[in-house]
Amino acid sequence: MPLNVSPRAIVPKQPSPLASPPVASTRRWAGQVRTQRPAGTSHPIGRLILKLILDRLDFQMDHFVDRRSKSLWMDVAVAPSVRPLQGDGRECDVVIVGAGIAGISTAYELAIEASHVVVLDRGKIAGGITARTSAHLAPLCDDLTSAMISLRGEEMSRLFYESQAAAVDRIEEIQKQESIDCDFRRLDGYLLQALNTDSKIIEDEFEAVCKVGAPVHRLVGVPLAHCEQQHVLRYPRQATFHPLKYLRGLVADIEAKGGSFHCDTVVERIEERDGKVVVTTGGGTITARAAVVATNAPIVDRFALHTKMAPYRTYAMAFSIPKGAIPDALYWDTLDPYHYVRLQPGDGRTDFLIVGGGDHKSGEADDAELRFQALEAWTRNLIPAAQGVTHRWSGQVLDTIDYAGFIGKNPGSNNIYVHTGDSGQGMTHGVVGAMINSALILGREARWAEVYKPSRKTLAGMSNFLRENMTAVKNFAEYLAPGELGDVSDLKAGHGAIIRQGMSKIAAYRDPSGKLYARSAACTHVGCHLHWNSFETCWDCPCHGSHFAIDGTPLNGPAIGPLAEANIKTRSGEYAGADQGGEPPTSLHSET
Ligand SMILES: Cc1cc2nc3c(=O)[nH]c(=O)nc-3n(C[C@H](O)[C@H](O)[C@H](O)COP(=O)(O)OP(=O)(O)OC[C@H]3O[C@@H](n4cnc5c(N)ncnc54)[C@H](O)[C@@H]3O)c2cc1C
Ligand code: FES
Repeated sequence: MPLNVSPRAIVPKQPSPLASPPVASTRRWAGQVRTQRPAGTSHPIGRLILKLILDRLDFQMDHFVDRRSKSLWMDVAVAPSVRPLQGDGRECDVVIVGAGIAGISTAYELAIEASHVVVLDRGKIAGGITARTSAHLAPLCDDLTSAMISLRGEEMSRLFYESQAAAVDRIEEIQKQESIDCDFRRLDGYLLQALNTDSKIIEDEFEAVCKVGAPVHRLVGVPLAHCEQQHVLRYPRQATFHPLKYLRGLVADIEAKGGSFHCDTVVERIEERDGKVVVTTGGGTITARAAVVATNAPIVDRFALHTKMAPYRTYAMAFSIPKGAIPDALYWDTLDPYHYVRLQPGDGRTDFLIVGGGDHKSGEADDAELRFQALEAWTRNLIPAAQGVTHRWSGQVLDTIDYAGFIGKNPGSNNIYVHTGDSGQGMTHGVVGAMINSALILGREARWAEVYKPSRKTLAGMSNFLRENMTAVKNFAEYLAPGELGDVSDLKAGHGAIIRQGMSKIAAYRDPSGKLYARSAACTHVGCHLHWNSFETCWDCPCHGSHFAIDGTPLNGPAIGPLAEANIKTRSGEYAGADQGGEPPTSLHSET
C-alpha cells in the first residue's frame, strides 16, 4: 500500500453511462430483498418457491449486503473449539503471540520440526486483520518495484522479490502436502495503467521488474471495460486462496503435531528471565525458550519499530458476478492508492468479485460510505457484469518507510522475535516471516533475514520517516482543540464523538438504544488522541494503529490495556456517568 495518499485517487476517473448510482443501487438491492423475504418466508412452500426464484436469478439467500463490516471470509471458523489459557506454570519450546497468518504460519514451521508450540490470541484464532484481507499472493512489491529499488537498491529488491515468491511457493506446497482445500489458484497478475493517466509508471515498472529478475510481459489491454488500450504488465504465476480455509487446515496440522492454541487470552507482558521468556496473560503465565510476537503491531516495542511504519485504513467490498464474466486473474491499477480486482469461487452460477482501495491514514477520515460509493462506481465502470454487493469491510495495514516488513530478533532481546510491517502484503509477509523466524529460533541459516532485519536503517527512507512521524506531532496538538460536540446531550444514538471536559478529552458513544459509553480519548499505548470510526464502530488511534471498542477494550495493537473510564457532566451540570442507561450492547465490534 502506498505511503503517499492522494485524496483525489478515490474519485472515479471515468464515470460511464453504465455505472449505476453507487450506493443507491446497493441499498436498493438490499432493501428489495429484505422487504420481500419475510413475506415469502411465512410458509415453507412460499419459502421454497422464493428460494427457487432467487436461485434462478443467481442470488444467494445469505449474500445480500450487510451494512456492517463483514468480510467474505469470516463465515469460516478457523478453530471454534479452542479455549482461553487458564493457570500458571505451563512450559513449551516457543510461545507465539498472535494467531493471524504470521503467527499460525510460524507455529506450523516450528511444529513440523518437532518444537512444542503454544499460540495465544486475545480474540478468535485468525480473527484479526487476516480475516479482513483480500488474499492476493503477490511476489512483487505492491508499492512498485521501481520505488523499492530507489530506496533499497537492486540487490535488496531482488532478494525481497525472491523471498515473497518463495512464500507463494510455500503456501502452494503446504496446501498440497497437507491436503488443505482452500481454493488456492496460480493466476496471472495484471498491473494496468489507470484510466486517464500516462503510461510512464508502466514503462518504469517494466524496467525495474526486469532488474530484479521477475518474469514480466508487456501488453496492451485487459478484458475490462475501457481498458482495451491501456498499457499493462502481466506477471505470470501469482496466486490467491481462501485465507481462513488455509489457516483452518494449518491449525489442525499444528494441533495434530502437539501444538496448542488459546483464544480470548490477552498477553500483558513478555519478559526475558534467566535465558527464558516468561509470557504473562490475563489467564496465567507460560515459560518458553523463545517467543515470537506476531501481533500485527508489536506489543513489545513502544517506539523503535513504530516510528518506522504507519497505519493505513483500507477498504474492500465483494459483488456477485456470473461465472466467466471476466477471466480469473488478479488486476490492479497504477493509482495511488491503487484499485484492485480479484475473484473468489462461489456456489452455483456466480462467483464473488472482490474490489478494494480507497486507503487513507488511519483515523484521518471517517467517510467509509463515500469510499465505498467511489469503489462501487469504479467497479461498475470497468466491470458492468458486477451484480449486487454482498460484503463490505475495512481493515488496517502497516506501511513501513522502505516497503519491507520487520522480521527477526526484536532489537535488544535475546530470545524474543518480532514480525510486523506487512505493508499491504501481509499474506506473503506472514509466510516469509514464518520461514525467517523459525530458522533463527532453530539456529539455522535464515535466507533473506537481512532484507527484513528489524534494526535496519534506510537513510533513503528518511523523508517517509519524517512525514509519517508528523502524525504524532499533529495528533498531540489535538488535545488543545475544542471537542467535536459541546455537550454529551447533543450526542445522537448510534454516534460517537470527542467531548472536551475541562483539561481532558472524552471518547463518548451512544448506542442505538440510548446507552452512553464514556472513556478517556487517550490511547493506552503512548497517549495519542483517538478518532471515531463510524463504519467499524470503534475508536482508531492515528499514531500506531490501535483500535478500541466502544467500552474501551483494545481490538488491535499495539495497545494492551483498555481505555480509562470517564464520567461526563451535561450542560446543565448533571452527572451523566459512564455506561449509563439503554440496553446492553449485543456486540462491541463488527464481525471479527
Ligand atoms: C482490506 C485488506 C486487504 C488486504 N489485501 C491483502 C492482499 O491482497 N494480499 C496481502 O498479502 N495482504 C493483504 N492485506 C494485508 C494482510 O491481510 C495483513 O497484513 C495480514 O493479514 C496481517 O497478518 P498478521 O498475522 O500480521 O496480523 P493479524 O491477522 O492481525 O494477527 C495478529 C493477531 O494478534 C492478536 N493480538 C494482538 N495483540 C495481542 C495481545 N496483546 N495478546 C494476544 N494476542 C494479541 C490479534 O488479536 C490478532 O489476531 C490486506 C489487508 C486488508 C485490511
Ligand atoms: S497506538 Fe501508539 S499511541 Fe495509540
